[in-house]
Amino acid sequence: MLAVAVLAAGKGTRMKSALPKVLQPLAGATLVERVLSSCDALHPERRILIVGHQAERVERELQGHSGLEYVLQQPQNGTGHAVQQLLEPLGDFQGDLLVLNGDVPLLRPETLTSLVEQHRASGAAVTLLTARLADPTGYGRVFADAAGAVSAIVEHRDCNDEQRRNSLTNAGIYCFNWQQLAAVLPLLTTDNDQGELYLTDTVALLEPAMHREVADADEITGINDRLQLSQCEAVLQDRLRRHWMAEGVTFTDPASCTLSEDSRFGRDVVVEPQCHFRGASRIGDGCRIGPGCLIEDSLLGAEVSVVYSVLRQARVADGCAIGPFAQLRPGSEVGEHCHIGNFVEVKNSTLAAGVKVNHLSYIGDADLGAGVNVGAGTITANYDGVNKHRTVVGAGSKTGANSVLVAPIRLGDNVTVGAGSTLTRDVPAGALALGRARQLVKENWSGPAPNP
Ligand code: UD1
Ligand code: CA
Repeated sequence: MLAVAVLAAGKGTRMKSALPKVLQPLAGATLVERVLSSCDALHPERRILIVGHQAERVERELQGHSGLEYVLQQPQNGTGHAVQQLLEPLGDFQGDLLVLNGDVPLLRPETLTSLVEQHRASGAAVTLLTARLADPTGYGRVFADAAGAVSAIVEHRDCNDEQRRNSLTNAGIYCFNWQQLAAVLPLLTTDNDQGELYLTDTVALLEPAMHREVADADEITGINDRLQLSQCEAVLQDRLRRHWMAEGVTFTDPASCTLSEDSRFGRDVVVEPQCHFRGASRIGDGCRIGPGCLIEDSLLGAEVSVVYSVLRQARVADGCAIGPFAQLRPGSEVGEHCHIGNFVEVKNSTLAAGVKVNHLSYIGDADLGAGVNVGAGTITANYDGVNKHRTVVGAGSKTGANSVLVAPIRLGDNVTVGAGSTLTRDVPAGALALGRARQLVKENWSGPAPNP
């Protein structure tokens, strides 16, 4: 039996943020979500989150995650005090307790699995993860013998100069035999520089205490401040880009691009510099993205090209060309082989196959039929100041430059709209619609008379 407890009650003073530390985002997911998902593969019987600072906010953010138990730690008197809060809810639980600091987001699931396996095979009272860090400043130092038996953990601030030279670092990830831990938790004291109850002090009270060193020290990076947050982001981004390169994506300047965990790419996608993928985006085979794009929660079919553009909650079918300088806002559904050109904004609209909106347009709350050609500067006037209305344009229609379609309005198939028209009434199929002042020409015009 396995229970997992994530320590997420601390304020995160060193972040200097209104947001609780465990809710800081990293590649689109919060720290605590990352820690939680790193132990999914272990299928623990119980998953407990210890909350305290802004507990309600942390619980609200995690609403979508089922099967979590919350235990309140109030006030927050250290990591040992946090785990003491489990004495009642875990009670006579017979099994192991995996304790994870809520601010260690880069752990690989395999690392946790092998920690638990080693712990069970050795019969230790506790097995903790360690790494040798080039710069262990701020971390607890682990004192162990060559066989891996741990005698003590001393916090950086409590170490003397010689102890500080020990680079074996505590990751803040422990697998305890719960009954043995429960017996020593009440013995903790606040005899340290911070005057807190330290979970790390249980290690000297448990026999045998073992450690497992991870090969990749990045994995155990804990986040206490914004610098460490940015370093973890860099590690995650590097992992994500390497993963997708291995899957057949080309990045011409990888370091300038950022990816979210939930973005997916097909084969032979080329990502040019300065492209950012957020949320759950899907990029189809052979797409060419960039330079300079932001793509969030959007679905792109195959062979789509997007240049210097922003797409949010948009769907774009195969073979479209988007940009430069286009914006597809939520609810944009673009059919196959459409062209959306420079300074065009589309929102909550469906464009059937082959639509061209090449220059300087706003298409909002509209349905454009197949092959519609939207002239430069055409605007759907969808808002009357109170309500939004739809514009419907039938297949094969063409709007002249600088047309305004005042919604609600329907144009049938194969309508032609003269340039500069403001249309307020429906137009039947096959018609030419003009809505502009007739041109006047005064011949031999000598201009106004000069002032006397
Ligand atoms: C802790 C370890 C240190 C280790 C490091 C790894 C202790 C005493 N020290 O130090 O040995 O090298 O993690 O990153 O455990 N928390 C609570 N309640 C509290 C205090 C903290 O839930 O009262 C939570 C925090 O929200 C955080 C985690 O525990 O998620 C760790 O707390 P933090 O203050 O960051 O510990 P470190 O000083 O980093
Ligand atoms: Ca920490």
